[in-house]
Amino acid sequence: AAAGSHGAGRYNFEELTWGNDETHHIAEGYDADILLRWGDPITADAPEFDVMNQTAEAQLKQFGYNNDYVGFTPLNAEGTRGLLCVNHEYTNEEVMFPGLGRQDKAGFEGMTKELIDIEMAAHGGTVVEIAKGADGKWAVVRDGKMNRRITPLNTEMTIDGPAAGHDRMKTNADPSGISVIGTLNNCAGGMTPWGTYLMAEENFHGYFWTDVVDGDGKPDISDQPEAKNMKRYGVPGRWYAWGKFYDRFNIDKEPNEPNRFGWVVEVDPLNPGAKPVKHTALGRFRHEGAETTVSSSGKLVVYMGDDNRFDYQYKYVSSGVVSDDAAANSKLLSDGTLYVARFDEDGSIEWLPLVHGTGPLTAENGFASQADVLIDTRLAADALGATPMDRPEDAQPRGDGTAYIMLTNNSKRTEDQVNAANPRAKSNFGHIIEVKEEGGDHAATRGTWSILVQCGDPELTEVGAQWNPETSANGWFGSPDNCAFDADGRLWVSTDQGSKWGKTGKSDGLYGVETEGDLRGTSKLFFRCPVGGELCGPYFTDNGETLFLAVQHPGTDGTKALKGFERASTFEDPATRWPDFDPKMPPRPSVVVVTKKGGGKIAV
Ligand code: FEO
Ligand code: CA
Ligand code: CA
Ligand code: CA
Repeated sequence: AAAGSHGAGRYNFEELTWGNDETHHIAEGYDADILLRWGDPITADAPEFDVMNQTAEAQLKQFGYNNDYVGFTPLNAEGTRGLLCVNHEYTNEEVMFPGLGRQDKAGFEGMTKELIDIEMAAHGGTVVEIAKGADGKWAVVRDGKMNRRITPLNTEMTIDGPAAGHDRMKTNADPSGISVIGTLNNCAGGMTPWGTYLMAEENFHGYFWTDVVDGDGKPDISDQPEAKNMKRYGVPGRWYAWGKFYDRFNIDKEPNEPNRFGWVVEVDPLNPGAKPVKHTALGRFRHEGAETTVSSSGKLVVYMGDDNRFDYQYKYVSSGVVSDDAAANSKLLSDGTLYVARFDEDGSIEWLPLVHGTGPLTAENGFASQADVLIDTRLAADALGATPMDRPEDAQPRGDGTAYIMLTNNSKRTEDQVNAANPRAKSNFGHIIEVKEEGGDHAATRGTWSILVQCGDPELTEVGAQWNPETSANGWFGSPDNCAFDADGRLWVSTDQGSKWGKTGKSDGLYGVETEGDLRGTSKLFFRCPVGGELCGPYFTDNGETLFLAVQHPGTDGTKALKGFERASTFEDPATRWPDFDPKMPPRPSVVVVTKKGGGKIAV
């Protein structure tokens, strides 16, 4: 294909100009339409959104907050009808609720049980039918029979795999250790080859509370039976006040409840009555995503990052092979081997199995069973000598035995902690690693790795960025987070600069990144967010004609950092009112649907 603004690249579109302002922007020749906003009714009987009179009951039938992962499973052969599966990672109470303002996280004085119930109902996930009309535009089908919300407020889930029913998984409410209410902080995710939806539980630690504090008012967990585990996982984070009203989120009352979060959850979108399943075989950590592929030997392989500074990259390989039997396929997530990555200095990668009884994973070292290895995945990976990474976010496998790993940033890495796979100290802008599994087999336990790009401004020598020189001033980015392949196997990367985005002056956005040939490492800007928003998704339909994007927390992130947006956003005074621009409406996280004007494949 001919190139847009430079060279003979594989991404045929006219590159967008970088910047930031109150709205979103898409490359010329494309539409970027709002499909679903926080509060939009998603069932036939749901009330219309009334921002001044929110209730948990209404929110349970409306689109949730802070859309992150987006997946799609078609309901017809043409792919013009299907189920959109969307994660709702977290909530920003100061822009959701009128008159609340910023909360002091030590006390959350303004947070009533009523507001907390709304927050809980705004977390989790949404499964909603959408259809493409004769005008080529996608719209929600409100009376879709599979439409449902999944929340930490009231969705019962089953725990399966080696840790199910273990004593450390039992609570007062669930003496069996196999049943849990809800899922938390669902960040990225994945769709399985059999059409189920995987929700990754990321920053679950933030939802747990304690009243036991030290002299500085910081949580004191020294008397906790799970102290070692809690310390390694950052429990309790006290980011939310749920534990003040719900015993299960208070570790003083339920020390095992945190062990029931930090897993990968499987949802069958076609069976609204089916309980979601937490698959403990895939390990417990701050799961960023769970992207699947089928290996050359037919096994299911899931790539998963643990998004924390100095934490690890994992993958899971099923024991059995993927078949046409959906019920049998779901068992593939219950029986298999979890591996953690060691990136060696010579460019080889070794996948180390987290299997009880092998190497240091024995009772003498505190791992009495496979359940212990999985509940304490991070401690087990520490013992195996995995490579501490610069915050592994999304990782995307491609069918040819290649995978791309987004390392978003790590400002805490010191010069003496630098290694070949994490080559910069104080890395504010992150990098992308390409893994090639041995023999092109995703189930292989070794392979090679290389750095695709080192992110940041290539004009600033001190940043140490490495891009293909064809990358323009618009095309470079910082802090890669989510990624996806389109129908033609091209890589797309979205960014999350967090509160640091003022350092680049660029809004978060979506970029096409060349992975092959002379242009390898060239990046091109396709879409950018409104100010203070982060870009999640992205997800391409199989025909490559529709791209779903999730704009998360518009108007909030880092809005103090940039001239013209010096204030912290609140409900009454947000940095933007995207996408409604209604003076009575706060900014709303929304899913955007991208199509080519006149139809056809995107960027071809
Ligand atoms: Fe929820 Fe790691 O981003
Ligand atoms: Ca993410
Ligand atoms: Ca992805
Ligand atoms: Ca993020």
